[in-house]
Amino acid sequence: MRAVDLIRKKREGRELTGDEIAFLVNGYSNGDIPDYQMSAWAMAVFYQGMSARETADLTMAMAHSGDMIDLSSIHGIKVDKHSTGGVGDKTTVVLAPLVAAAGVPVAKMSGRGLGHTGGTIDKLEAISGFSVELGKEDFFRQVNDIGLAVVGQSGNMTPADKKLYALRDVTATVESIPLIASSVMSKKIAAGADAIVLDVKTGSGAFMKTLEDSIRLAKAMVDIGTQVGRSTVAVISDMDQPLGHAIGNALEIKEAVLTLRGQGPADLEEVCLILASHMLILGGKAKTEEEASALLMEQLDSGRALEKLKELVAAQGGDIAQIDNPELLPQAELVVEVQAPAEGYIESIQAEEIGIAAMLLGAGRETKDSVIDLAAGVELRKKIGDSVKAGETLAVLHFNPAHQSGQAEAARRVLQAYGISGTKVPRRPLVFALVTPEGVKRF
Ligand code: URA
Repeated sequence: MRAVDLIRKKREGRELTGDEIAFLVNGYSNGDIPDYQMSAWAMAVFYQGMSARETADLTMAMAHSGDMIDLSSIHGIKVDKHSTGGVGDKTTVVLAPLVAAAGVPVAKMSGRGLGHTGGTIDKLEAISGFSVELGKEDFFRQVNDIGLAVVGQSGNMTPADKKLYALRDVTATVESIPLIASSVMSKKIAAGADAIVLDVKTGSGAFMKTLEDSIRLAKAMVDIGTQVGRSTVAVISDMDQPLGHAIGNALEIKEAVLTLRGQGPADLEEVCLILASHMLILGGKAKTEEEASALLMEQLDSGRALEKLKELVAAQGGDIAQIDNPELLPQAELVVEVQAPAEGYIESIQAEEIGIAAMLLGAGRETKDSVIDLAAGVELRKKIGDSVKAGETLAVLHFNPAHQSGQAEAARRVLQAYGISGTKVPRRPLVFALVTPEGVKRF
């Protein structure tokens, strides 16, 4: 087999066999196929697309390129959740204990943030002492003992995806639905999930800006899951503004704790309940969304979900006093308010700009090696649809003196991120569609 023939075949819009795809992935992974040939192939895929079968073959070839985690020693159906990313997305910190309290084991491997704000692992590290490094056996034991564990990715998972994703990043081939779908799903499959709930974000702060593209991406991922025997559903949720009010690691942990106490922002609670419902259904604990929702509300109202978070924090060495009293989480020395320049109604909040502002204050990584300031971030006081008076606070910047130099630019970006209209603006829907193997249900 020769790479050049496979590039030509794809360029002409023909379907590659599973062996041909494995040849490309393995050859690229071990260095036999050079970057220039893999780039040409990725560009051919960008223009010609891939069939559902080819996409599933690419996914499995990338999943098998490194460690495959075997979760079979954990009892029950292991349901994973993945979000395609967004600003203020702390759903895992709420969902993991909520779902575990309802009886579905959560064995979660999460990433650090590479974009503007921290990832789940960074957020959890805002809790003093919380360790995200557990040995494999301890990880399995903890999930069997308390129903959940959240750890950082370790070992050598999906190296072929890492290499191909980095190449796509510099060859303008990221925005290809089969390539994104296979990249995301290869990581979930290598992480050992039996079933997967996807939160596909749509809107200005998301990878996919339009609803139709988000649905196409969701369908491609659900198709992959179905083809490779992992039940998969996708919820299409809004990312036209940040989720909740808090952006920044300790601020987000505090908001997650409030949500588990039933005092969190309505949008965050609603997205968490919808995603968690589907996790319970796939995990065999509920038959319908109504049944799942009732079971989840019981966990919230009784305090069991919050207790589960405390069990997680205690098991991984964290300070549960900070969960009982989130004011004990790291706090920034300086807070500065950003005020509305005019009266009206909030009509838009550019999520990406808010994310960059948080990063400038130290909440995210500018480069791979930057050190995150866990206390830093942005707290939104106004969301889309809210009314505002001139001079009223739109958002609050939290930062430490080391990042004072970023303050002016962060404030400018936050101000620019807000669009204010003279006329009343309706609140945005939070969830637009559900994609299952049976089809697409729009709301
Ligand atoms: N996220 C991924 O993991 N892969 C992609 O290709 C795009 C987003």
